Amino acid sequence: MNILSVRGVERRFDTTLALQATDFDVAENDFVTILGPSGCGKSTLLRIVAGLDVPTAGNVLLDGRRITSPGADRGMVFQSYTLFPWLSVLDNVCFGLRERGMPRPQQLDIAHGFLQKVGLQGFANHYPKQLSGGMQQRTALARALANNPRMLLMDEPFGAVDPITRERLQEEFLRIQREIQKTILFVTHDIDEAVKLADRICLMRDGKVEQYATPENLLAYPSSDFVRDFVGADRELKRLGRVSVASLMRPLDGAEGGSWKTESKNSVPGTLSARDALSRLLEAGGELPVLDAQGSIIGTISLNDLTVANMDQHQRKA
Ligand SMILES: Nc1ncnc2c1ncn2[C@@H]1O[C@H](COP(=O)(O)OP(=O)(O)OP(=O)(O)O)[C@@H](O)[C@H]1O
Ligand SMILES: [Mg+2]
Repeated sequence: MNILSVRGVERRFDTTLALQATDFDVAENDFVTILGPSGCGKSTLLRIVAGLDVPTAGNVLLDGRRITSPGADRGMVFQSYTLFPWLSVLDNVCFGLRERGMPRPQQLDIAHGFLQKVGLQGFANHYPKQLSGGMQQRTALARALANNPRMLLMDEPFGAVDPITRERLQEEFLRIQREIQKTILFVTHDIDEAVKLADRICLMRDGKVEQYATPENLLAYPSSDFVRDFVGADRELKRLGRVSVASLMRPLDGAEGGSWKTESKNSVPGTLSARDALSRLLEAGGELPVLDAQGSIIGTISLNDLTVANMDQHQRKA
């Protein structure tokens, strides 16, 4: 079911057409990234959905109601740290709950729960200036989630942290998303971040939606030369990053399947991404046994299995 509908939304700044009449929908619990080069209109679109800016034409509907201003139904996390510097981490997270007049014990319950979820349980009494950039973004995320919004709106939330912290934040955020199942609209200009996080990618160019598709389809079937160039020459490698070893392996036939175990270091779990398996295969050569969660061999994987044709076959089945 779609919860957000962007209908004919256009935004003009004097002579600049930042957004050309744009339509797109976001389904409930989907993680959608808005991706594209600098200046293509990503933040403009997100700000309009947030109610921080007003379109010069068209409408945005959330659960069928027109958005005209910011609201507690949309939680926001932006790149620049927007915490209140005079409030502790705990009180930053409590802020929206207090505004709503929630009793303090209940506020604290909720805030401590979300601080735990984002790995900041020991930092409740710290102030923002005592935190690293990554920790400030975790706090901002906890604050947004504490309000239990209908949607999360995020504009390059991990853009200002170093690459290693960024990768860790992405992984933690994916884990949290699996737990809490929010509908998310997430702006990034980083194709790897979009492919890693998104259920669907909305790729924009010059204020227009160029292609709106799952990462798998965007990578496998770019709709234009622009998309093909934007996703990069390594798009087949990126596709391997979205496929599990188990889906490309040669399964053992029934007689042997699952009945024997291996001690060999040179084996891979079926849940590993095919991209990581590629690395292992380049190192080891030949073929590697594939294991299930119990350590039983369920198949084998070799370089020959990691072909585009094999991925295509898997994707068609999916
Ligand atoms: N307040 C404004 N006044 C005038 N022009 C603006 C304003 N905000 C955005 N624009 C213009 O609208 C276009 C889209 O800007 P926007 O900030 O949405 O891009 P973006 O895709 O978020 O880029 P980036 O990746 O650099 O953040 C740009 O040409 C920008 O200069
Ligand atoms: Mg922007």
